[in-house]
Amino acid sequence: MRKWASFPLKEGDVSRQAHADFPQQAIYERETGRSGFFGPATHFHHTHAPTGWSDWQGPLRPHLFNFNEIEQNKTMSPWAVPYLLFNSHCKMRTWRLTDSMNKLARNADGDELLFIHEGSAELYCDYGHLSVRDGDYIVIPRSTMWRLVPNEPMFILLIEATNDSYQLPEKGLVGNHAIFDPAMLDTPKINDAFKAQYSEDSWQVEVKRHGQVSVITYPYNPLDAVGWHGDLAVMRINWRDIRPLMSHRYHLPPSAHTTFVAQRFVVCTFVPRPIESDPGALKVPFYHNNDDYDEVLFYHAGDFFSRDNIEKGMVTFHPAGFTHGPHPKAFAAGREYKKKFTDEVAVMLDTRDALEIGDAALATENPDYVNSWKTRPQD
Ligand SMILES: [Fe+2]
Repeated sequence: MRKWASFPLKEGDVSRQAHADFPQQAIYERETGRSGFFGPATHFHHTHAPTGWSDWQGPLRPHLFNFNEIEQNKTMSPWAVPYLLFNSHCKMRTWRLTDSMNKLARNADGDELLFIHEGSAELYCDYGHLSVRDGDYIVIPRSTMWRLVPNEPMFILLIEATNDSYQLPEKGLVGNHAIFDPAMLDTPKINDAFKAQYSEDSWQVEVKRHGQVSVITYPYNPLDAVGWHGDLAVMRINWRDIRPLMSHRYHLPPSAHTTFVAQRFVVCTFVPRPIESDPGALKVPFYHNNDDYDEVLFYHAGDFFSRDNIEKGMVTFHPAGFTHGPHPKAFAAGREYKKKFTDEVAVMLDTRDALEIGDAALATENPDYVNSWKTRPQD
């Protein structure tokens, strides 16, 4: 057993409540925190923006990628697309699929999370049939056999929980039915569409294990279950089903928007919500260094209110050890309470271990991103 030293202290001019009622002349609050947003933390009150650097050298830096430009050979296999951001506990990739998969996929390395950025499809898997659309998260348990039949071209974000599984967060004070009711989780059905694909035609399964693909051939379609019972299944939730926690008086940390949890990373979802309205409340994300986590944001839809020049399909990667926060224009707009509502939708991946960047992602990087905070609001 071990515990953090715990001693709430204060030095100099401070606000008593984090993210609200900052001292005069010190409008820049910076949170430095451990264990995500759950460990010891200190809030500094600065007179200059913590992102106001004039130069930056060396390998640690924030990254901006445009995943719309990821090169991909035309492939029907999710295992043929490159890792973009990855470590030994998770693998993020994007996959464009236009034609029906002609083989079944099976990931023996871990659970796979699909986020449908664009398009719609029919999903057939061990558990039956499910129609999927943009904005869907689909959790595919490890070693499930599955295939997609697109109705329109698809752009899918995949996050593998390597040697791990996806679970739901504890919802604590707000109870089991907040954020989304577990009854909103959809599962595949053994329905007419599923029965219509039973066949005696030969089918192959591409199984990925330890990063290598093996191909198993059946002289029939192995998606032939006539029924199942149990408490393990493919499950789906759409971001539109998420009813976000919010407070009109307090900017909640990203952890309030946690959607799925694995052992060494979390996936959070930012969905439309009102902006904080209390006069003293911070109205944009606070400056912070989340010192134990690498943070990745995939921008799905809407206007990304804390960033300038970000479009859907782009990805920011803020490694641990790097202080970040709103861009200057967004910070100034927050001070003036210009926006009353944010319509942004974004998927966040926070990893406890350092992420590597794949070559395919590097090829889409905007090297000037580190300078994007340079204009101070008073300039
Ligand atoms: Fe962050």
